[in-house]
Amino acid sequence: FQPRPLTGKKVIVTAGGTKEAIDPVRFIGNRSSGKMGLAMAKVARDLGADVTLLTTVDTDLGGINIIQVQTAEELMKHLQDTFPETDVLVMAAAVADFKPINVADQKIKKNDDEDIFTIKLTKNPDILKTVAATKDKQFVVGFAAETQNLLTNAEKKLASKNADVILANNVAQSGAGFNVDTNRVTLLQKNQQPETWPLMSKIDVAKKFWDFYLTR
Ligand code: C5P
Repeated sequence: FQPRPLTGKKVIVTAGGTKEAIDPVRFIGNRSSGKMGLAMAKVARDLGADVTLLTTVDTDLGGINIIQVQTAEELMKHLQDTFPETDVLVMAAAVADFKPINVADQKIKKNDDEDIFTIKLTKNPDILKTVAATKDKQFVVGFAAETQNLLTNAEKKLASKNADVILANNVAQSGAGFNVDTNRVTLLQKNQQPETWPLMSKIDVAKKFWDFYLTR
């Protein structure tokens, strides 16, 4: 018998790195594997939630409504439509901060006379901040991947992004962050001491998070 305490809850998880097009064959991406977000989605599903996964990663998880996206703009569109009806948003996607201003219609050709090629970038919207600014009942979780000043930076994100929780991790540490199956996370919430969890698998981080959510 498995208790399903998230039954009736609508959960949206975003996962993976966005891919911002340069031309039809190239994009600007990042090292996010989507593993942490996928784990959050799987555990929520196992606990009975109605889970939608917005992801840039090719995946096929039974019992989860998967919507494939590529860019920050697509993520934003889906979230603006679905956020009002959501109970919990877990924003685990590594959203590119910038995207090319212009996307070339055709594959860009190299020019033999030029050794330097410049791509002009423009800022993407902060999706978490934008949607969380409209929140009422929703519980909003952000991630903070840092290589230095982890707690200070994560505290700032908690406030500036209007999140209920920030899960912070130092991606410079071994066994944590991008493309590994383990993570070392610190949970931050308003007016509470940060809670640092030991190194564990991403699935166990997800289990611990949902346990925290259900017992907070
Ligand atoms: O500001 P920073 O990128 O470190 O914040 C990380 C958190 O904000 C993550 O939860 C990420 O999904 C979210 N984010 C976002 N839109 C952006 C950049 C980050 O929603 N443009």
